[in-house]
Amino acid sequence: MELHKLAVLVLWLGVAISTARFPAAAGAPPLPSSGCQRMCGNVEIPYPFGIWKSGESPADHCAHRGFYLTCNDTGHNVYRPFSGNVEVREISLQRGQARMLNHISSACYNTATRAMNYNDWWLNFTGTPFVLSDNGNKFTVLGCQTLAYISDNGNAGKYMSGCVAMCRQRSVTNLVNGSCSGMGCCQTAIPTGLQYYRVRFDKGFNTSAIYNFSRCSYAVLMESSSFSFRTSYVTSPEFNSTDGGQVPLVMDWAIRNETCEKARMNAETYACVSNNSECFNSLNGPGYICNCSKGYTGNPYLQDLQGGCTGVSGVFVIALAGFLEAMVDGMLLELLDSDIVNEASMGVIHQAAVLASQCLAVPGSTRPTMKRVAEELQRLAQADELQQYPQPPLVIESRSFMEIGSTCTTSSWYAGSNTTGVYSLENKVMQSTEFAR
Ligand SMILES: *[C@@H]1O[C@H](CO)[C@@H](O)[C@H](O)[C@H]1NC(C)=O
Ligand SMILES: *[C@@H]1O[C@H](CO)[C@@H](O)[C@H](O)[C@H]1NC(C)=O
Ligand SMILES: *[C@@H]1O[C@H](CO)[C@@H](O)[C@H](O)[C@H]1NC(C)=O
Ligand SMILES: *[C@@H]1O[C@H](CO)[C@@H](O)[C@H](O)[C@H]1NC(C)=O
Ligand SMILES: *[C@@H]1O[C@H](CO)[C@@H](O)[C@H](O)[C@H]1NC(C)=O
Ligand SMILES: *[C@@H]1O[C@H](CO)[C@@H](O)[C@H](O)[C@H]1NC(C)=O
Ligand SMILES: *[C@@H]1O[C@H](CO)[C@@H](O)[C@H](O)[C@H]1NC(C)=O
Ligand SMILES: *[C@@H]1O[C@H](CO)[C@@H](O)[C@H](O)[C@H]1NC(C)=O
Ligand SMILES: *[C@@H]1O[C@H](CO)[C@@H](O)[C@H](O)[C@H]1NC(C)=O
Ligand SMILES: *[C@@H]1O[C@H](CO)[C@@H](O)[C@H](O)[C@H]1NC(C)=O
Repeated sequence: MELHKLAVLVLWLGVAISTARFPAAAGAPPLPSSGCQRMCGNVEIPYPFGIWKSGESPADHCAHRGFYLTCNDTGHNVYRPFSGNVEVREISLQRGQARMLNHISSACYNTATRAMNYNDWWLNFTGTPFVLSDNGNKFTVLGCQTLAYISDNGNAGKYMSGCVAMCRQRSVTNLVNGSCSGMGCCQTAIPTGLQYYRVRFDKGFNTSAIYNFSRCSYAVLMESSSFSFRTSYVTSPEFNSTDGGQVPLVMDWAIRNETCEKARMNAETYACVSNNSECFNSLNGPGYICNCSKGYTGNPYLQDLQGGCTGVSGVFVIALAGFLEAMVDGMLLELLDSDIVNEASMGVIHQAAVLASQCLAVPGSTRPTMKRVAEELQRLAQADELQQYPQPPLVIESRSFMEIGSTCTTSSWYAGSNTTGVYSLENKVMQSTEFAR
């Protein structure tokens, strides 16, 4: 198992060298410009998502097709991202999910007109990458005399369900905090694949006889983990007023309409461009999502040198794997393409190379300790030149470089078949270096 993981790592070391030679892989999807807006208010907008700004050049490729959001002022210079008119609170690359805000629908008795006032909301995500998450949400209905329906697109729809919430003997005394089982509160699951949602209250159930203690009923599809029933929800406006009439909603997103198997065949559109990423077919609706392979972190939708999945800092990978060879042959500049390495970062890389070669050299008393190498690498990583490509910490065998600590020369790294990452890494790099020469 360990050896397998190492093999991947070493393979990747080799890959990094070829990347350095040919940074823009032929036939790959266009790269997003580094000038793209990646924050909107306090929400991070990772690629494949992007912010659409009027006047922006489509050549910037800030988002994958269909993944554009807008960043709008919601008042007083508070900016928030939106998909259509739905606010986006958070985007998760790893889960392929986004948290949005959904409006609470209501049915209230109006004592002045002696009629019910209905406020029904709907959402239409047709044609977007978003599908309502079936395992993250529950259709939630609150009230003492209410039946609310959830359905998809009007007449053309295929789905309809509903939930009834009642109170016995016109009283809320039997309701229990934290228990949503039909008394004052009802929840039901939704099927997969829904991109359209609408709420309707049944007109046969109304609050005209109970308005004194429960004037309004509510219904909304919402994140189930952020809901816990409180008896006050049926007797007061609390549920609606907590967050301005909105609650969190979980959306599953994916690169739509193709399976991994099909998508892989078209290198020009395949979205999992990081070499250390894997493709997973979407569990909700057609399409696929990308994830970093085990032991790697980063953005699987970006190429490795743009912030894709890395286990070892991209630049230092080149340092560790390529420099021995390069230093020996004096062809450092030839190895590194000028697109990725400018003159300024060259100095940093050279220092890393010297370190790497010292540590990777055949066992000897002149080696620096691993700890010193780690410290030195960390210092180099802080260098201004490298800040343009923020890198996750160096990880070998899922342990960080710092944790490995110890020294290059400690005999335990070399003990028999019970190899450690460092020993094997050195060994393999040595071997492949020799092989390459
Ligand atoms: C956001 O701003 C754009 C451009 O001004 C506008 O077209 C859009 O309707 C706005 N969306 C929301 C949800 O306010
Ligand atoms: C992606 O990888 C992370 C970390 O390895 C894991 O927690 C997550 O469940 C994975 N997501 C999917 C969709 O496989
Ligand atoms: C409430 O429902 C009752 C029984 O269904 C009906 O008689 C009454 O007219 C309704 N009132 C309103 C305001 O809808
Ligand atoms: C939902 O949006 C899609 C795409 O914009 C549109 O074609 C469709 O008519 C909309 N559905 C409804 C019921 O409005
Ligand atoms: C996926 O395919 C459906 C039907 O073929 C189409 O209506 C929809 O627009 C496609 N979605 C995307 C994101 O391409
Ligand atoms: C439910 O919790 C609220 C506080 O959150 C409390 O005021 C109320 O008395 C509780 N109701 C019952 C029936 O326990
Ligand atoms: C509501 O309360 C008022 C006074 O508190 C009372 O006169 C009225 O009959 C009550 N209405 C109902 C439907 O219980
Ligand atoms: C719920 O809250 C929203 C936003 O504050 C408000 O516009 C709406 O009237 C409220 N609905 C009810 C039934 O109170
Ligand atoms: C990924 O690896 C392949 C060889 O397996 C190589 O040709 C390609 O350039 C690499 N791409 C990136 C972005 O590293
Ligand atoms: C490696 O060491 C661990 C504990 O130190 C031991 O359990 C394991 O059997 C060893 N493996 C081999 C192949 O020697």
